Amino acid sequence: MSIVKVLGISGSPRAGGNSETLLAEALKGASSQGAEARMVELRTAEITHCQGCNSCFSDGECRIEDGMTSLYELLTEAEVIILSSPVYFSGLSSVMKQFIDRCQCLWARKVVLGRTVGAPGRKGALISVGGQSSPVFRNSISVARSFFNSIDVEYMGELTAPAVDSKGEVFDKPWLLREARELGETLAKRSEPAP
Ligand SMILES: Cc1cc2nc3c(=O)[nH]c(=O)nc-3n(C[C@H](O)[C@H](O)[C@H](O)COP(=O)(O)O)c2cc1C
Repeated sequence: MSIVKVLGISGSPRAGGNSETLLAEALKGASSQGAEARMVELRTAEITHCQGCNSCFSDGECRIEDGMTSLYELLTEAEVIILSSPVYFSGLSSVMKQFIDRCQCLWARKVVLGRTVGAPGRKGALISVGGQSSPVFRNSISVARSFFNSIDVEYMGELTAPAVDSKGEVFDKPWLLREARELGETLAKRSEPAP
């Protein structure tokens, strides 16, 4: 059986921050199941914003050459994609949103050109951390769902962590680390073929 490719996308501007720590745990969980797990840190990826030129409508390719160029292949090859983002003003970080907007060319492949994006049976999830006791997670979840749907990935759910604010605070809540690891383990397991 081939090795499951798991791609973690970190959308925090803060290196080693709380959401990235949980993502790293999820990837460790995936690796423990024999998956090939890889993290991309968007803050260092030098990605500019989608310019809405719609040229991807003709061939599904983005005309901008930057840090996204190599990511498109990783995104279409991955069988599991985990997004992680802090809550910023009740939504995703701008770093993560900018990345998602640049996936418009993958949306175009599916919706405009009627092509499939990646192999069937791909799975995705969101990890999100907020500093308030009751952060608004629903906006981030809604965008993550839309993103995964656009790239032919089934949304499997989210791990949300409220009341985690200063850098490293997530280590004070070991159950979150455990839940993240379990999320990665679960996502990395292949679905059993129907009998
Ligand atoms: C610009 C900015 C906006 C934020 N907005 C929210 C918010 O709306 N709700 C919330 O609960 N926390 C908010 N926070 C707190 C972060 O979500 C929190 O510090 C989180 O732990 C950061 O995750 P990270 O370490 O992965 O970057 C905000 C922080 C910043 C810097």
